[in-house]
Amino acid sequence: MAGLFAVGITAFVVLRWLMVPADFGALGHYRASALTDNMDRPLVFAGQAACVECHADVAEVRAKGRHARVSCESCHGALAVHASNPAGVKPVRPDPRRTCIVCHTASISKPTSFPQVVPAAHAPEGSCAACHVVHNPKIS
Ligand code: HEC
Ligand code: HEC
Ligand code: HEC
Ligand code: HEC
Repeated sequence: MAGLFAVGITAFVVLRWLMVPADFGALGHYRASALTDNMDRPLVFAGQAACVECHADVAEVRAKGRHARVSCESCHGALAVHASNPAGVKPVRPDPRRTCIVCHTASISKPTSFPQVVPAAHAPEGSCAACHVVHNPKIS
């Protein structure tokens, strides 16, 4: 039995030494270089502050509506490549029907205070932008 334990413990120590990265535990119970690995990844979101610098007109339309707190990239997708090179990367406009349905399709799981519609009954086809201004959707 003692021999069996000795083999087991030795195997554990050897495998642990082989498999645990050298910097594990240096800063806490994780691999310390995971931080630099993540910092090296390119940014994909520019953040709303960047968009507003160039698209002040859109920001102005949005300011008074209930989409004001929905940030640009929630609908437009990650656009850091466009923000850093607006002439080189022209973004495609989000689909003004499919984009809306993602958030506004009625569901019992949503708070009743959240504006929701049954798309098939509310607007069976076509663009939601036919009636709603996408950046300030209330129809007066
Ligand atoms: C440095 C200035 C700058 C920044 C920052 C910037 N844009 Fe732009 N954006 C432009 C310019 C200039 C155009 C027009 C490009 C063209 O027509 O070729 C444009 C075009 C667009 C278009 C296409 C408009 C159309 O007519 O189809 C969208 C959508 C857009 N930007 C969204 C965004 C979003 C969202 C952000 C933030 C993530 C952003 N932009 C950040 C300058 C900027
Ligand atoms: C609720 C979703 C949503 C949000 C939030 C949003 N957009 Fe848009 N945006 C759209 C859709 C959808 C279109 C395309 C409209 C169309 O094709 O009729 C569009 C079109 C545009 C266009 C081109 C047409 C135009 O109106 O000038 C620009 C530029 C733009 N958005 C920039 C922005 C910026 C900048 C922000 C944040 C300050 C933002 N958007 C936030 C959904 C959104
Ligand atoms: C990322 C989620 C999201 C997307 C995509 C989105 N919305 Fe909204 N919408 C919201 C939120 C959040 C509110 C505000 C809820 C609140 O104020 O409690 C809102 C509010 C609204 C309202 C109520 C406005 C009012 O003043 O009563 C309408 C209408 C609306 N959106 C239409 C649209 C249309 C049309 C589109 C597509 C262009 C769209 N939404 C896309 C999240 C979204
Ligand atoms: C034919 C015109 C028309 C079209 C197309 C349309 N809507 Fe509406 N929508 C309205 C009207 C009118 C209201 C109520 C008045 C208001 O917004 O103030 C409304 C209200 C809403 C509301 C608020 C509901 C509430 O309980 O507060 C949402 C969310 C909404 N629409 C989403 C959409 C979406 C998503 C689409 C596309 C699938 C769409 N709408 C297409 C006319 C339209």
